[in-house]
Amino acid sequence: MKKQQKTVEKIISLYPSLPIIDKIFCRLRFLIFPVKEILRIIPNDGSLLDIGCGYGFITNAIAILNPHLSVYGFDINKYRIKLAQNSVSNRNNIRFLVSDLNNKLDKLPKYNVITCIDLLHHIEKKFHNRVIADIYDHLEKNGTLIIKDIDTRPWYKYYWNYFHDLIVNKGQLVYCRSHFEWISMLKKKGFQIKLLIFPKKGLLYPHFIITAIKL
Ligand SMILES: C[S@@+](CC[C@H](N)C(=O)[O-])C[C@H]1O[C@@H](n2cnc3c(N)ncnc32)[C@H](O)[C@@H]1O
Repeated sequence: MKKQQKTVEKIISLYPSLPIIDKIFCRLRFLIFPVKEILRIIPNDGSLLDIGCGYGFITNAIAILNPHLSVYGFDINKYRIKLAQNSVSNRNNIRFLVSDLNNKLDKLPKYNVITCIDLLHHIEKKFHNRVIADIYDHLEKNGTLIIKDIDTRPWYKYYWNYFHDLIVNKGQLVYCRSHFEWISMLKKKGFQIKLLIFPKKGLLYPHFIITAIKL
C-alpha cells in the first residue's frame, strides 16, 4: 500500500463512529489536498496550533507522524470537534477544542508552529489583518506560520473552488486573497517569508502554501 493511502486508512480508523458521508469527505479531502507537501514542512517537535482544524483529519496526520510534537486543534464547528475529540483515545500529544478565531486567541499560550489549513478564505476580509496580528502574538520568536489556502488565479480554478465551497458549506461565501496579498500582509506584520509553493494536487484547485517566520 502506498504511504499516503496507509496514512488515510490510519486516520479513518481513528473515527469508528464517523458517518459514511463524512468518511467519503475524509477520503476526498486527502485526494484533492496537498497533504504530502504540508506534512513535509511540519517540524517534528515543539508545539503546534492548528486553527480551523475541522474534523482534525490533517491535525491527526500531523500528530501521528510527529509523536514528539504537542498538537492542539480548534474549530468553531462543535459537531466536527466532537468527532475530532472522539478520535484522540489515549494519545497524549493531541487535543481538540471548540473556539472561534474571531473571539481572539487571548487565552491561548504561544506556539512554535501555527497552521491555517484552508481556513483563511472562510474568514471575512475585514478580519484578515487582525487574524494575522493575533497569530503573530501567539507565535514564539522564530516560530513558523504555515498557511495553506486558495489562490485567486487562474480564474477558472478560483471559480471551481468557489462553487465547491458554496456546495460543501451550504451557501457560505468565501473570501480568497491572492498569495501576493497574503505575502504583503505578512511582511508588513514583521514575518519573513521562507517558502512559497504551488502544489499540483486536485487538478482544479489553485492551492498555495506559504511558510513565514516570526522574526
Ligand atoms: C475547509 S475547512 C478546513 C478544515 C481543516 N483545516 C482541513 O484542512 O481539513 C475550514 C474550517 O474552518 C473552520 N472555521 C471557519 N471559521 C472559523 C472561525 N471563526 N474560528 C474557528 N474555525 C473556523 C470551519 O468550521 C471549518 O471546519
